[in-house]
Order: sequence, then structure tokens, then C-alpha cells
Amino acid sequence: MIVTIDGPAGSGKSSTAKAVAKETGWYYLDSGSLYRTWTLLYIMGGFDKDVFLEFLDNHRITLDAGGGATEPLLNGERVGDEIRTSEVSDNVSAVAAMPEVRRKVDEEMKRAVKEHNFVADGRDLGSVVFPDAALKFYMIADLQERAKRRKRELDEKGIEADYNSIYNNLAERDRADSSREAAPLVKPDGAIEVDTTSMKFEEQVRFISEKIQKVLN
Ligand code: DC
Repeated sequence: MIVTIDGPAGSGKSSTAKAVAKETGWYYLDSGSLYRTWTLLYIMGGFDKDVFLEFLDNHRITLDAGGGATEPLLNGERVGDEIRTSEVSDNVSAVAAMPEVRRKVDEEMKRAVKEHNFVADGRDLGSVVFPDAALKFYMIADLQERAKRRKRELDEKGIEADYNSIYNNLAERDRADSSREAAPLVKPDGAIEVDTTSMKFEEQVRFISEKIQKVLN
């Protein structure tokens, strides 16, 4: 069984999905981590699309499901927080807009979810990748609030970034992710909208967990 949480960057999808997964005992899948890992290769290839398209054939990015969460592996190696830098954040929308990349990521996610129950977060999971999900959520929040949260998150990880560049990056990604041709960010049909602007984190988690319990009963 799969539950999807889609929405713009910084709306609270991943932290909520992680907490819901813990509460329900399901696995957590962060689809953005796969796009971010492909972006590492795009950067390594000097931002050259032709070089990168060759990399797509010669490198493997897989999801390793261990300990309740899935983690991306680049040619079998962990990538860790390398995928959270601002250089990756600034380039990930361009990479995620390439249909060749989306095909690879979708294939890998479909393979990974076969064995367990999953709470997954992304942009197109309920609309394109898993249209038959047991339950779909669409999580939104005001841009300012999202930028504040992302700043706090990066501070906690010890990754340096200033508020204004985070704000601009989120605004630009909203624009790019929503207007691209391949699988743009939309509210999926049948998704429950959750506006988290003034919700407490625990409230978000409870709201979603309770809906999942209802489906299970
Ligand atoms: O969730 P995130 O911010 O880590 O995602 C990084 C980027 O990956 C995001 O700007 C758009 C892309 N993405 C996507 O296109 N489709 C998904 N299902 C998940 C992420």
C-alpha cells in the first residue's frame, strides 16, 4: 500500500511523511532525494547536458530500503547530505524537468515500493507515478513560512545558507516545478489538501495518520 504527499518545496512534506511513517510502521520514500542525486552527476559533468545524458546510461542510482527509510545510492555508495547543498538545490529543477531523468526515477521508485507499505513525498506521485495510491495528500504553505522552515532545517544540519537566497530558491523552484512540461506540480485528483502555514507539526502528523488509520480500518 502507498500513501502519497505531494506539494511545493518546504511545505513540510518530508518531515511529516517521515513522522507518519514512523507512527504507522511504514517505510518512507523521499522521491526528491533521487532527483537530487542525479543533480550531483549533472554538476560533476560540468552542467553539460550531453555529458549528463551519457552519465544517465553509465551510472546507477538506486534506493536502498533499510531501517524504515529509503536512501539513494549512487553506484552503490551512500550520498548523504551532499545532496542538500544550495548548489544542488539551485540546479535540481532543471534536472527534474528532463523526461529521461523522470523515467529513470519513476522506474526505480516503482521497483522499490513493491516490497513494503510506503509513505512517499514528492511533486507528481499522486498525479503520475502512483495514481492508484490508497490515499493522496497535497501539502501547501505560504512561501515566507516555508523559507523560514527550510532555514531552520539547514541550520540544524550545520549547512550554511541565508534566508533571502532560500526564499528566492523556493520561489524559483515553485515556478519551475509548476510550469514544466513533464509531470508538473499539481494537486492530484482526489488528493486531500493540507495547508500547514499555521499548523503545528504534531497537528499535521496527527491529521494524516488519522486519515490513514481510517483507510486501514
Ligand atoms: O523535495 P525536494 O525539495 O528535495 O525535491 C527536489 C526537487 O526535485 C524539486 O525541486 C523538484 C524535483 N522533484 C520532482 O520533480 N518530482 C518529485 N516527485 C520529487 C521532486
